Amino acid sequence: MARDEMSLKTAVPFVPVTAPFNAQQRAWLNGYFAGLFSRGSVNPVATSASELKPPATSVPLTPLTILFGSQTGTAEGLAKRAAKEAGKRGFAATMLDMGQTDAAKLAAEKNLLVIVSTYGDGEPPDNAKALHTQLSNLTSPLAALRYSVCALGDTNYVQFCKCGQDFDTFLEKRGATRLTPRVDCDLDYDAKFTAWLDASLAAISEVGRVVPNAPFRILAAAETAA
Ligand SMILES: Cc1cc2nc3c(=O)[nH]c(=O)nc-3n(C[C@H](O)[C@H](O)[C@H](O)COP(=O)(O)O)c2cc1C
Repeated sequence: MARDEMSLKTAVPFVPVTAPFNAQQRAWLNGYFAGLFSRGSVNPVATSASELKPPATSVPLTPLTILFGSQTGTAEGLAKRAAKEAGKRGFAATMLDMGQTDAAKLAAEKNLLVIVSTYGDGEPPDNAKALHTQLSNLTSPLAALRYSVCALGDTNYVQFCKCGQDFDTFLEKRGATRLTPRVDCDLDYDAKFTAWLDASLAAISEVGRVVPNAPFRILAAAETAA
C-alpha cells in the first residue's frame, strides 16, 4: 500500500508530502492530528488531504522606532506616551535614546518618529549632539526610511525649535520620506503633540498591518550596542 493511501486508512493520518503545505505547516498538521486521534475524537476516514486547512501564518507587526533627544525629560516623556499609544494601535514600537544610536542604524529603520528639544542657542540636547553631527555630514541615502518630527522648544528663544528643524532637514536631504509635516511645539505642547502623533500613526497604518494592543519595548543600552 502506498504511503499516501495509508495516511487515510491508519488510525493516525499524516499529511502527504505532495499536499500543498510547506514543511512547517505539514509538521504542525501532523502534530495536530496526532493529538486529536490520541483522544479518539476524529474519524480518520472522513479526513483527506484536500480538506485540510493550514494554520494561519502570522503576519509581522509594523515596526516603529520612536527616537528622542531630550535634556530635561520632556521629549523622553512624550516618546514614552507615543510608544504606549503605538502599542495600543498595533505597532511593534521601540523607544530609542538618540545617544544610543547612530546614522548607520537609522538607515536600517523603516518607520521613525523623532521627538527632540532644542537647547543653548539653537543647539541639540546633549544626548542628540553626536547623531546631529553625524546626520549633518551624512552622504549615504536613507531612502527606505519614513519619518516625522515633533520639535520641542520655547518661542521665547530666537532659534525656536531649531534642532527639530535640523533633523527634519537632514532626513529629507538624505531621501527619507516625510510621513506628516513637522510640528514645532511651544511649552504648551500637548494638543499639537497629540494631533501630530495621531496623524503620524495613521499615515504609517495606511501602508502597514496593525494589530491592536501590541507590546512595545524600551531598548536597553546593551541591546542597542549589539
Ligand atoms: C537653557 C535652555 C535653553 C533653551 N534653548 C532653546 C532654544 O534655543 N530654542 C528653543 O526653541 N527652545 C529652547 N529651550 C526650551 C526647551 O527646548 C523646551 O523647554 C523643551 O520643552 C525642553 O524639552 P526637554 O525637557 O525634552 O529637553 C531652552 C531651554 C533651556 C532651559
